[in-house]
Amino acid sequence: MNQTLVIVGASYAGVQLAAATREAGFDGRIVLIGDEADAPYQRPPLSKGFLTGSFSEARLPLRSQAFFDEEKIEWMPSMRATNIDRAQREVELHDGTRIAYDHLALTTGARVRKLDCPGATLDAVHYLRDLRDARRLAQTARAARRAVVIGGGYIGLEAAASLRQHGIDVTVVETEARLLARVASPWMSAFMQRAHADKGVAFEFGRKVVALQPLDDAVSVVLDDDTHLPCDLVVVGIGVIPNTELAAECGLAVAGGIVVDECACTSDPAIVAAGDCAAFVPHWAPPGSRASRIESVQNANDMAKVAALAIVGRPQPYRVVPWFWSDQYDLKLQMAGIHSGFTHHALRGSVDEKKFSIFYFRGDALIAVDSINRPQEHMLARKLLAQSVKLAPHEAEDPAFDLKGAAQ
Ligand code: NAI
Repeated sequence: MNQTLVIVGASYAGVQLAAATREAGFDGRIVLIGDEADAPYQRPPLSKGFLTGSFSEARLPLRSQAFFDEEKIEWMPSMRATNIDRAQREVELHDGTRIAYDHLALTTGARVRKLDCPGATLDAVHYLRDLRDARRLAQTARAARRAVVIGGGYIGLEAAASLRQHGIDVTVVETEARLLARVASPWMSAFMQRAHADKGVAFEFGRKVVALQPLDDAVSVVLDDDTHLPCDLVVVGIGVIPNTELAAECGLAVAGGIVVDECACTSDPAIVAAGDCAAFVPHWAPPGSRASRIESVQNANDMAKVAALAIVGRPQPYRVVPWFWSDQYDLKLQMAGIHSGFTHHALRGSVDEKKFSIFYFRGDALIAVDSINRPQEHMLARKLLAQSVKLAPHEAEDPAFDLKGAAQ
């Protein structure tokens, strides 16, 4: 009997899950439900080339319509799942349609955290998560002269770099004492701060935004020390909130994300979850660690492949080394592994030439490598980490040391 897989959420994880399930031999019906009108698209260019104008909208789609047709993946745009009936195994959509499933995948992603202060809904305020946000921001940026970016994370910094390339004056307001505090080491934060400062970006650290006030045809961003930053464009990138409501309402385990095991299975054997919305205890975490989420394209894609194998009855544990990247100005930042808890680090390459890698160690174990403009070293780092290769800091630092040989 032919089975039905229903996937809720049509971005990286959802599309990959559909493709990977088909590839793994699933010959039933696949229904991919997405609440956006646009065909599933790449998100990383939205804060980079799409904003600077070097990456056209035509290049954004993740897969062609021909792919969905050939693979018999029924993509349903502009449809929002509103309820999951686990007893009946049905998903209900906002228009009342009910779709029966044998397998259900939740790839609902995350939504932006909104600024919560007076003036937060003024027209000048922009977020950057989906294509509609990006179109509106790109349009506004064409005529803007001064921008305030709230949040010094990935979105904030990539937007800052793109806006500077339009010649717009940019000030970044960050509540923490350093940039990228959630994802980067203090060393890398300082490097990225210098890179932005060299391009003329100004910073306000340790400050909160208390209000946005209309100002002629512009806006003034008011900080908690009464600094006023007049501008005609505000970009907010203060993190995301996982879309877990559907899962919680139908009684699945949710703790900061939809809780899944190492095979991407939720507390209901008929339901998997993957991507930004899913929380799991990663294989590298010490025993007893709590489940957490990883927000990245790599995680969405790789976890979706694991979920697909669970659906076709060949579960495999998720064992991939996480990696991330960000392009800002002439810098390609690539991160492999998770540096948290590192005890010492080693530098390979030249900071002055903006071509180097930082190797992070916990005790004698290599746990992460950040690279700037060293894509080959980043690839080697992923191999070294996947194989838990023993590497000494002095070897990492030595340009003559054969990293490629060590990664065989
Ligand atoms: P984020 O969590 O990376 O950074 C948010 C930043 O805003 C943090 O530095 C935080 O301290 C700061 N912040 C929080 N509240 C604030 C406030 N009220 N005022 C000022 N600063 C405040 O989230 P971000 O940058 O919004 O990115 C959203 C998502 O998109 C994340 O999942 C991120 O990983 C993803 N993304 C990834 C990219 C990449 O991998 N290159 C690029 C762009 C986005």
